[in-house]
Amino acid sequence: MAPWDYTGRNVLVVGGTSGINRGIAEAFAAAGARVAVASRSQEKVDDTIAALQALGAESMGFCADVRDAEVVRLGVQSVHESWGELDVVVSGAAGNFPAMATGMSVNAFKSVVDIDLLGSFHVAQAVYPFLRKPGGSLIHISAPQAHIAMPGQSHVCAAKAGVDMLTRTLALEWGAEGIRVNSVLPGPIDGTEGMQRLAPKEHHRQAVAQSVPLGRLGQPEDIARACLFLASEQAAYIAGVVLPVDGGWSLGGAAATGAALGAMLNSNSPKSKEK
Ligand code: HXC
Ligand code: NAP
Repeated sequence: MAPWDYTGRNVLVVGGTSGINRGIAEAFAAAGARVAVASRSQEKVDDTIAALQALGAESMGFCADVRDAEVVRLGVQSVHESWGELDVVVSGAAGNFPAMATGMSVNAFKSVVDIDLLGSFHVAQAVYPFLRKPGGSLIHISAPQAHIAMPGQSHVCAAKAGVDMLTRTLALEWGAEGIRVNSVLPGPIDGTEGMQRLAPKEHHRQAVAQSVPLGRLGQPEDIARACLFLASEQAAYIAGVVLPVDGGWSLGGAAATGAALGAMLNSNSPKSKEK
């Protein structure tokens, strides 16, 4: 992470207490930023703050379910009261589970849309008054499902497609004030909750890795490096993009993984067991 210097910058990572987003929080901390994190679990927030402080960063955090706009607003306000204007916000809280559209309840679909899409909107509205103008950067964490239809992922596909259009619309609305809004779209990232849910067994994991043109699963550092770049002056003229950081997976491998997921869900369905 050596090329990046975020000394004196204020960064907030929503959903920053595990997996990919925590890797992003740690990368900004290692680059000298003050880093705040937020998620539902107080234990995960506390653990992450301690890890960021161990990296030498000033750190704080708050507990919030992104589905609750008012709690998010108060949490963001508390970071602003302590540190002042926000330079970078990474918004990546999300939920996922594999389930066919006909096999999930309305509330199951709604839960993912509420967390991923409505939650991103709540975060964007809450941070807008406190983002540095000009110079602030908002990065949404998207997913391949935003652009590639996958069986068993209707909720995530719909929600993340909405997130990427939110990115593009906010880039238009906020560009004149010097706020850049972009999405980073991770591929399959090893050792994460998201991968565990879509590829639960070692042979699934191997098949996904083989379907990536670059021949390996991603690491949280791969995504963190893209965020460090996008939030930096080096990316000063980049706004409204959706940047895949996926080893080329969205060129074909992601669809193959989706087909395998569909086959797995169909073979587990009660109808298939009757045969
Ligand atoms: C069908 C399910 C289900 C499942 C939950 N539900 N799991 N339906 N199959 N496996 C249903 C429940 O029955 C309920 O509907 C509704 O969804 C809400 O469930 P709750 O448990 O009450 O919700 P909540 O506690 O709010 O939890 C939200 C969650 C949970 C999304 C369901 O899994 C969660 O908190 N996830 C966060 C962590 C996570 O998912 N990380 C991975 C992100 S990866 P009813 O009708 O019974 O009320 C990602 C993209 C990965 O986003 C891309 C990889 C390439
Ligand atoms: P993860 O470890 O489960 O991370 C999700 C984070 O969001 C956690 O910090 C979680 O903490 C928080 N969170 C979840 N629901 C929340 C809610 N309602 N309100 C507030 N915070 C909430 O998952 P991950 O696999 O690393 O995924 C991280 C991001 O990358 C997600 O946006 C995901 O869509 C995207 N992505 C992942 C992959 C992959 O391969 N894993 C691929 C493409 C895209 P709490 O539980 O404490 O709330």
